[in-house]
Amino acid sequence: MAKDPGRVLIFDTTLRDGEQSPGASLNLEEKLAIAQQLARLGVDIIEAGFPFASQGDFAAVQKIAEVVGGEEGPIICGLSRASKSDIKACADAVEPAPKKRIHTFIATSDIHLEHKLRKSRSDVLGIVPEMVRYAKCLVDDVEFSCEDAARSDPEFLYQVIELAISAGAGTINIPDTVGYTTPTEFGNLISGINKNVNNIDEAILSVHGHNDLGLAVANFLEAIKNGARQLECTINGIGERAGNAALEELVMALHVRRGFYNPFFGRQPESPTPLTAIRTEEITKTSRLVSNLTGMIVQPNKAIVGANAFAHESGIHQDGVLKNRLTYEIVDAKTIGLTDSKISLGKLSGRNAVRARLEELGYDLSREDLNDAFARFKDLADRKREITDRDLEAIVSEQVQQPDAFYELRLVQVSCGTSLKPTATVTLMDPEGDEKTSVSLGTGPVDAVVRALDSLVGIPNELTEFSVKSVTEGIDALGEVTIRVRYKNNLFSGHSADTDVVVAAAQAYVNALNRLVSVNKKAPIHPQLDLIESQSAQAI
Ligand code: KIV
Ligand code: ZN
Repeated sequence: MAKDPGRVLIFDTTLRDGEQSPGASLNLEEKLAIAQQLARLGVDIIEAGFPFASQGDFAAVQKIAEVVGGEEGPIICGLSRASKSDIKACADAVEPAPKKRIHTFIATSDIHLEHKLRKSRSDVLGIVPEMVRYAKCLVDDVEFSCEDAARSDPEFLYQVIELAISAGAGTINIPDTVGYTTPTEFGNLISGINKNVNNIDEAILSVHGHNDLGLAVANFLEAIKNGARQLECTINGIGERAGNAALEELVMALHVRRGFYNPFFGRQPESPTPLTAIRTEEITKTSRLVSNLTGMIVQPNKAIVGANAFAHESGIHQDGVLKNRLTYEIVDAKTIGLTDSKISLGKLSGRNAVRARLEELGYDLSREDLNDAFARFKDLADRKREITDRDLEAIVSEQVQQPDAFYELRLVQVSCGTSLKPTATVTLMDPEGDEKTSVSLGTGPVDAVVRALDSLVGIPNELTEFSVKSVTEGIDALGEVTIRVRYKNNLFSGHSADTDVVVAAAQAYVNALNRLVSVNKKAPIHPQLDLIESQSAQAI
């Protein structure tokens, strides 16, 4: 049997696999803010990025290793393909963290070997021990993944895993890369590895999976029953294609159904000891932060973190819940930190009161950021009677979201109405500090604003998504706008909140354009491209 830490280790890959979602790219400040929140959430390992991909990725992993990876904090991990240059970049990036890990991988399925890597099984049997040994001479903690394990020949997988463990891998990760497997098959695969790999007791077994058939969480829970003790997951389940297994769903399944899973850990069913180290009260805040910064909106009916997850609409359900919550509720909303607490701050409140509330909410801002947040709070307090925690979170998350500000929005004015042609006037400051103004007509006020901004910036792009949602209830609520634009087959998102949704839309669009400009300065490499392909992709 694989090593058993006595509970489940949560390996969060929001900043690596999650960031591979189309349009979810994050800048350094955003990655840092998410990593800090993941540490507060209590994840065991943060996969902070793929350092070889670009200078930006390297810098982000290094910064997270410096700032977030304390002695008591999570292990900071970087991803690398099974090549010396990837592994070395990864080791250098995670270096500042007291607890660091290199996660290296190579594909093991015949379909990947033949068509992607153009390598034989015996090539892989040579590469794996050499690369794991190399990683092991740079850091102590090495994880090895067999990409596309769920579609690999189990006998070949056993050989590869045994070699990786002999070479020093302390964690063996089994990915369902294409989200193909079913719970019973995945459970059997994990149990087969436990039975057939001679040295499996020297490593922790981990699972990683995508949600193409909507089975990722179910597959992981079956894997746990068969001895998997590390789960690789992302906040809100974001990730490549249909995404990764969702952290909040896994954690809450293990929390709510602890009695069912306890015996698989050799515990009595009624044992109250948690199965993960996650602080569940931080789940909602983490989910909102990730959604705001990545621009990946959470579907309303999403388990645990969807807006409707705790809403009882039908009269019968409402009646039942009023009589006894347990009739229709299996999770108390407070367990995941879902509160509608209002703060008694208004336009006469001072900086200290705002700072204190922000600290209670987990935001530890620099003096400069606090000044900015306070100015925005005052501005909002002039327009809105009651300020909620959600409003404060919207203010702060937008602040960390600001990408390198190539363009600054200086003015937005629109005129529209039943008998008017929507007309927008916008003023933008460009990277040289020059202010330019443009006026445009549009089919609606937002269209007019976007056209006016386009005429100033001149980057040909396509607006693919525009969504507005209110942060809280009430006519004076902040409106949150998320915009995505497509440029040369890549998506870029921007997000903003304001009581005026047209202003929020203009700012969100400028944020998306700024992100487009900063990311396009250097195209990153995708980790699942093989080495030769990635070299030619970079040369383009
Ligand atoms: O899905 C996958 O196989 C991966 C590996 C790189 C772990 O993300
Ligand atoms: Zn993956």
